[in-house]
Amino acid sequence: MTAPPAPSAPVDAYKTPMEICWQFDYASDIEKLRNLYAKAKDAQWNGEKDLDWSTPLDPSKPIVNQGRYGFDRLEILQKLSASQRDTFRAHASAQLLSQFLHGEQGALMTAAALTHAVPDYEAKLYAATQTMDEARHVEVYEKYVSKLAIVYPISPWLKELIDQTLRADHWVKIAIGMNMVVEGLALAAFHNMRRETTCPLLRTLTENVLRDESRHVAFGNVYVGETIRDMHPDEREDVAQFAYEAVKTMVDANGGPDGTGRRKADPGFLKVLAEVGIDPGDFLKSLIAAGAAGVKAELPPGQLHSFRDLMMPALVRVGAVTDRTRELYAAASIPVWEDASMLESLENLGTGEIVFEA
Ligand SMILES: [Fe+2]
Ligand SMILES: [Fe+2]
Repeated sequence: MTAPPAPSAPVDAYKTPMEICWQFDYASDIEKLRNLYAKAKDAQWNGEKDLDWSTPLDPSKPIVNQGRYGFDRLEILQKLSASQRDTFRAHASAQLLSQFLHGEQGALMTAAALTHAVPDYEAKLYAATQTMDEARHVEVYEKYVSKLAIVYPISPWLKELIDQTLRADHWVKIAIGMNMVVEGLALAAFHNMRRETTCPLLRTLTENVLRDESRHVAFGNVYVGETIRDMHPDEREDVAQFAYEAVKTMVDANGGPDGTGRRKADPGFLKVLAEVGIDPGDFLKSLIAAGAAGVKAELPPGQLHSFRDLMMPALVRVGAVTDRTRELYAAASIPVWEDASMLESLENLGTGEIVFEA
């Protein structure tokens, strides 16, 4: 008899300080959470059976429309041959989808942590559905990225942000770090990918994921807001500080809230450049020249801006931005956007009342 294979060793392990809790009061009655749980149960899907995995995919061809990347407007890329530009877009998409995959694993762990730590019975049930949703997202992105045959490692800033969240000492911080900050970014990226992809499999996959994610963002709103309102002011400031630091990590990594400033060099993106033989220094020069010539990193019409449309309004709405931290945001030139209308319309996706436009 052969021995069963040894489980693979975890590649990165650490201890976390969070308290976890039982809840024996099964009579709690938080209607909004109960509704969210009911919707989540009805909306479960099977990533293996419900998607057409026989869809052919050529890893050497881009899976997004030209113009998806603001980079397309850079002179250094316009000088490339058509096939080099194809290679660039194929690798840039694989790099982005790899971040979706790794980010979903982080979401899987934070959702499980929420299940342990939220104090209400109905919140535990809801968090369990989010855990299953995230497991499915890891599964489908892993399957899709495997078809592309190009997997990039997790970006250091994304790892840092998810680690900050997983290391938090209170479940409210975990919900802020994941359900508002990381998922604010993810929701915008998924929404934009869904609009721009030329691959029918990726479009359907992303629509399914988006419906699930819209519930996760809604959970942040219906449950976290009330908890923050009931907190002692000192505890609320501690949570607001955490939110500021999470946003700041993301802003610094992405070249400012508009993405127009200096970014930290991302090893994955450097590898994308290397694929088409572009020197990172030349790329940076081209970026600076484009900025000087007034080429803005504006999103194409209809695309979502993660900070303006999702992340900041979500934090303001639950009371995770205080007068004190408003000053920190101002000092860091991060606008505190408050218009939650786009966020609310995306949350309605989770109710099934809204369908995707063609
Ligand atoms: Fe997810
Ligand atoms: Fe999620």
